[in-house]
Amino acid sequence: MAISTNYRTRSDAVPLRSFKAKGRPSAIAGVGVYAPERVLTNFDLEKMMDTSDKWITERTGIHRRHIADEGTTTFEMATRAARAALEAAEVSPKDLDMILVGTSSPDGPFPSVACRVQNELDAPGSVAWDTLAACTSFVYALSIADSFIATERADTVLVIGAEVLSRLLDFTDRGTAVIFGDGAGAAVLKPAQEGAGFLSWCLGSDGRGFAQVTCGNIEKGAYAAKDANPYIDMVGPDVFKFAVDIFIRQATEVCAKAGIALDEIDLWVPHQANFRIIDAAARRIGLPMERVAVNIDEYGNTSSASIPIALEEAVRKGRVNSGDHVLLAGFGSGLTWGATLLKWA
Ligand code: ACO
Repeated sequence: MAISTNYRTRSDAVPLRSFKAKGRPSAIAGVGVYAPERVLTNFDLEKMMDTSDKWITERTGIHRRHIADEGTTTFEMATRAARAALEAAEVSPKDLDMILVGTSSPDGPFPSVACRVQNELDAPGSVAWDTLAACTSFVYALSIADSFIATERADTVLVIGAEVLSRLLDFTDRGTAVIFGDGAGAAVLKPAQEGAGFLSWCLGSDGRGFAQVTCGNIEKGAYAAKDANPYIDMVGPDVFKFAVDIFIRQATEVCAKAGIALDEIDLWVPHQANFRIIDAAARRIGLPMERVAVNIDEYGNTSSASIPIALEEAVRKGRVNSGDHVLLAGFGSGLTWGATLLKWA
């Protein structure tokens, strides 16, 4: 089959799949993050490639990004975020029934990052595996956790988004190197009171757009093509349009399924890919920026970690209160997308 790099989901829209949460409700009981100490500013990047602080700030909203030291593993960062989330939720690792890690930058094909985290936390016996859906991985993993709690196959689930994307960046490519950063965020899910927690979901993928965001040989992938140094590549402007469109459609879907109006969203925590994407979608959804969590200026795009990192900051700053309607929404390579509306417990 021919490889199309100019496929546009926006102009060839797919029907969205959305559903109301069913069964025993689950909610987020605690969140935690870890970001590497080392920071790369736009001014640092100016010295490394043909770019400028002005261009990066104006086109993306990014000022800085955290970059892991050479040799840092995804599982170490994931474990640090997990420990913080467990502490916030007052949950012992021994009580975990399941550990899910969303990542596109694991330390190798296997064992999974989740099993390495399980080992670090000394939580043997829980079910642990990775979910790979690029920047949507965290939302997909959350939906799996919610399903297991809803059907009473698990009570306490740890969900992590962790990325060392700097290993997948070509620092001579100004089109991608300035965008991404490293980090990890985690959430602990537990059963909730009736009417609280996750209310609705919208999840989907459109593989026809697989060539829009890639890492390694576009046709065969990195392994079959023996691509030893796969780097992130994307059709930026097309992904931009897709992202704005899917953010709006997902917000509309999950609110409709939960039976609330768009203006009843108290906080939207979007995947942090580009400030202009978030701003454009928020305007069209009709949400003022006071009701949107944005921290892309500090972290850049941390893929699966970006939603939990932004959520933790919002919780820490007292922007999320019991009873608030919180919208989490992501999109990414695949193409993939996922959103959930929850009533904060
Ligand atoms: N510094 C200076 N100039 C640059 C830089 C840079 N870092 N990067 C690109 N340019 C130049 C280009 O070469 C181009 O120059 P030209 O007009 O002379 O050809 C010009 O800027 C405009 O380039 P565009 O790519 O059209 O710039 P755009 O405004 O679209 O911004 C960006 C690019 C930031 C990538 C934007 O398209 C975007 O954010 N897209 C969405 C990406 C995304 O969300 N990806 C998520 C998926 S990630 C995942 O799943 C792992």
